[in-house]
Amino acid sequence: MYKIFDTVDEVSRYTAQRLLAKIKAAPTAVLGLATGSTMEPVYAQMLKDIQQAPVDLSQLTTFNLDEYMGLSAQHPQSYNYYMYQHLFNQLNIPARNVHLPDGLASDVETACQAYSNAIEAMGGLDLQLLGIGSNGHIGFNEPQTCFNSRTHIVELSEQTRIDNGRFFDDQNEVPTHAITMGIQDILNAKEIILVATGSNKTEIMAQLFASAIDEALPASALKQHKNLTIVLDREAAALLPEQALKSAV
Ligand code: GLP
Repeated sequence: MYKIFDTVDEVSRYTAQRLLAKIKAAPTAVLGLATGSTMEPVYAQMLKDIQQAPVDLSQLTTFNLDEYMGLSAQHPQSYNYYMYQHLFNQLNIPARNVHLPDGLASDVETACQAYSNAIEAMGGLDLQLLGIGSNGHIGFNEPQTCFNSRTHIVELSEQTRIDNGRFFDDQNEVPTHAITMGIQDILNAKEIILVATGSNKTEIMAQLFASAIDEALPASALKQHKNLTIVLDREAAALLPEQALKSAV
């Protein structure tokens, strides 16, 4: 299902409301969270909404999608740091319920397996929030990642390193590898919301709409999911065909 809004503000309000509705309906919910600039206004809106109408977060569990390898939790460009800055520092989710892949794990293979196992042990993700890379990656699952992958190490594509270079002082500082939940972990979520905004997502959203389910475009895996909402602003939706816009609500 597509939801298309005029502005990023409306996209963020809708997405924050969906996340909060899930938590209110099930205080023990397990959420899969994402990073990136798309999520900044979403999290800011969530914080605003929670300030206005407090929500019990004491039983909430979160698992983040991904993390750069080689960056500590204190590194300003680590996703751990991002999540605490944009969300967790302002919320009372118990620290033991918050999970992110460890970019400095000494035994990465074991840590990856443990991460997918921990999600399963919680009964799976109730709702996974996703952004999308300009090459169609979800989490850090780059093109050609197996759709049955679990949490694993990835070598970042040149495109992704260039895209994400904007957050670093120097392009050479962008890590070459990352840990990401696998596509199977994502597909196992009971509900998925993919958010894309702005003109740098126009092209990939049109490609995703037209694409068959194909490992060359990781986000196309989501087309087999029974409960997927794609939330876009007008810019990201600009090249979607009439057919998609008509079915959007
Ligand atoms: C990063 C993250 C993804 C995110 C994507 C889009 O590479 N690993 O999880 O969805 O970029 O980010 P942005 O929202 O900044 O465009």
